[in-house]
Amino acid sequence: MSTFAIAPEAISTSTSDAVAREVREGLTATPKTLSPWLFYDEAGSYLFEEITELPEYYLTRTERGIFEAHADEILQTAALGQGPAGKLTLIELGAGTATKTGILLAAAVRQQGSVVYQPVDVSETALAEASENILNNIPGVTVRCQVTDYTREALPLNRLPNTRTLALYIGSSIGNFTPDGAREVLRNLRAQLLPGDTLLLGTDLAPFAGAGAPKTEAMLLAAYDDAAGTTAAFNMNVLTRLNRDLGADFETDNFRHKVLWNPTESRIEMHLESLVEQTVQFPAFGGTDAFTVEFAQGETIHTENSYKFTPAAVEALLASANFKATKSWRDPQHFFAVTLATAL
Ligand code: TRP
Repeated sequence: MSTFAIAPEAISTSTSDAVAREVREGLTATPKTLSPWLFYDEAGSYLFEEITELPEYYLTRTERGIFEAHADEILQTAALGQGPAGKLTLIELGAGTATKTGILLAAAVRQQGSVVYQPVDVSETALAEASENILNNIPGVTVRCQVTDYTREALPLNRLPNTRTLALYIGSSIGNFTPDGAREVLRNLRAQLLPGDTLLLGTDLAPFAGAGAPKTEAMLLAAYDDAAGTTAAFNMNVLTRLNRDLGADFETDNFRHKVLWNPTESRIEMHLESLVEQTVQFPAFGGTDAFTVEFAQGETIHTENSYKFTPAAVEALLASANFKATKSWRDPQHFFAVTLATAL
């Protein structure tokens, strides 16, 4: 059985007035910014899937490898302390097409016979694909999709009787928030869990934190600036989206994808750099008045951060949101960590 519940209000807010408001706020600020959730229109979600398969983008395959090696142990550890009748229900924040999640769902079905899976994402098309893949490939899974921006709206967590929740927050998505923002996301999640529920958090690790082959800055930069130009296309797509959805007049040829490593903040930064001095016009839209944005040559729009963590930073972040890290798994090279934490 599958339920595909889409909150219509979630769809309309993310494509109209809310977009105009956030964009105006971000582009009239100094420095200029755009909210990362704007990336994930249909084209953006598709490009993002391509990123995850790039040779330079080690994150996805490394995390998948950790799941393949340890899924049963992860699910068993999450289920510890439960009553005999209790089952785990899995909810996933920012599930996308959920390609890696299948490994964990299959382990849950092995362990408990069946599982309810509730993926949450801003992209309806990504969730439709997630749902189809899972239903076709993993018998025993019931899928309940929710189109919601978990950063701006309450999580639609449906608690079933006699179950515990295992929340999945993987792909180092937590790294796309500032430290304050990350704590806030985890606190909001924690507020909807019961003590004893668990969280599985995927985090990309900081350079040189590893024990195997050194994780270099060059390797990090390449992961976000690949030779095929897919990450550049993903970043630039946000301008195309603003032209289409808000009637802006960005000349995309006048911008370029720019990536840098910020060692002080331990993060990769993605920017769109203006190659010339230029003015971009936004017409009036819904409740937002027309406005113009001036760019100096070399000025950037800061579009995304990807924080890289030490194991100690992961534990501290979890503790700050009232979770206790109980067990952590890493790949042999120590590029990536998957940490299980219990809600206190
Ligand atoms: N969270 C992942 C990361 O930081 C995936 C991701 C989010 C990403 N936004 C991105 C990857 C933008 C490339 C570009 O790597």
